[in-house]
Amino acid sequence: MDRIVVEGGPRLAGEVRASGSKNATLALMAAALLAEGETRIANVPRVRDVDAMLELLRALGADADWVPDAVQTVAIDASTITSPEAPYDIVRKMRASFMVLGPLVGRCGLARVSEPGGCAIGVRPVDQHMKGLAALGAKIDLDHGTVEARAEELVGGRVVFDMASVNGTQNVMMAAALARGVTEIENAAREPEVAELATFLAGMGVRVEGAGTDRILVEGGARLAGVEHVVSGDRIEAGTLLAAGVATRGDVSVSGVVPAHLDAVLDKLREAGADVEASADRVRARAHERLRGVDVATAPYPGFPTDMQAQLMAVVATAAGSSVVTETVFENRFMHVPELQRMGADISVQGRAAHVRGVERLSGAPVMATDLRASASLIVAALPAEGTTVVNRVYHIDRGYERIEEKLRSLGAEIRRES
Ligand code: UD1
Repeated sequence: MDRIVVEGGPRLAGEVRASGSKNATLALMAAALLAEGETRIANVPRVRDVDAMLELLRALGADADWVPDAVQTVAIDASTITSPEAPYDIVRKMRASFMVLGPLVGRCGLARVSEPGGCAIGVRPVDQHMKGLAALGAKIDLDHGTVEARAEELVGGRVVFDMASVNGTQNVMMAAALARGVTEIENAAREPEVAELATFLAGMGVRVEGAGTDRILVEGGARLAGVEHVVSGDRIEAGTLLAAGVATRGDVSVSGVVPAHLDAVLDKLREAGADVEASADRVRARAHERLRGVDVATAPYPGFPTDMQAQLMAVVATAAGSSVVTETVFENRFMHVPELQRMGADISVQGRAAHVRGVERLSGAPVMATDLRASASLIVAALPAEGTTVVNRVYHIDRGYERIEEKLRSLGAEIRRES
């Protein structure tokens, strides 16, 4: 199993390009199941979750693979889907697999997907996905841990979510694309990845209004054609690289992103004392001196993203003064705390709030990556730390970050991967 070794110290400086958004890509790949024809998605990050989704689409009978001569492009042709059943082995590893439920029931009249189990960042039910599909006329049954959805025909309906679920909203939008008539989704998630799915569906011939707001209308029912799409930059990867830069009191620019998607993160970095400039598709963040502690609470978009919580905590671990980091989206997303403590961070957790008292410097230590963003936070913490940090179990980071060590090395970090 690979590990990442970081020699702490160097200030990061320079510019890197963000990869395409992993989360947007996973939804678009599921949506490719809607079309009878080839879809091509470009600017796809080469990360393990994308490979897992390709594997899942192939298991369903689709033709799905990287395009050999086109850089970072996948081609998916779901004309040939044969099996409406998503194998447990894939779903278990990647919760986003559950998004094939909506498109599959629309295409095949039947879909079976294992219930994704409780995962490391807390109980993550899929009740909202099921509620939404039921409102479109699907009959949902739970059988020995498998969710089965059946519908001879999906019919547009009104879905009022109890909470704004990102993948839940996307799942229902995809089913609605094949449902006869108009579907109205209330309390929809407003994340940019939802809006990007809407653009993708529009390219296939679906009428979608309101994506990016909490009320989305989808008019479906037509046969859908394949589409070509370029994925937008990964706002979480970009935020992580900027956090890494300011943690080292460096000067890092990230290109290939929509700066507005990062507003909540950039505001916090500014509040902590960083100089942040945004232009058309680029963000630059500089820290000349020690940052100040800030309080932050995660929230659905446009609030501070839960996927940046761990990385921000790593930044404020060495800021002057105290910070309170509150996680409101997931129940148990503080697995990075004990690892940061091993590096000398002064953090105490009470319920959903982590109280961080900034220390002058962290010290390198062997640490364990426990989930995707937690692993990223350990690297952010290791870069300015004194001495060597060895991050074990980096397969978590490979799920969602493309060549992270190469990108950081290009900014001057002393970081390497060891087998
Ligand atoms: C997506 C992102 C993930 C991010 C999260 C929140 C992908 C592949 N993943 O995950 O990186 O951290 O959004 O921004 O896009 N919930 C329910 N019932 C449901 C669905 C969700 O109770 O049916 C709860 C969850 O437990 C959680 C909250 O709603 O507490 C938000 O989760 P949700 O937005 O659904 O996250 P995902 O879409 O799974």
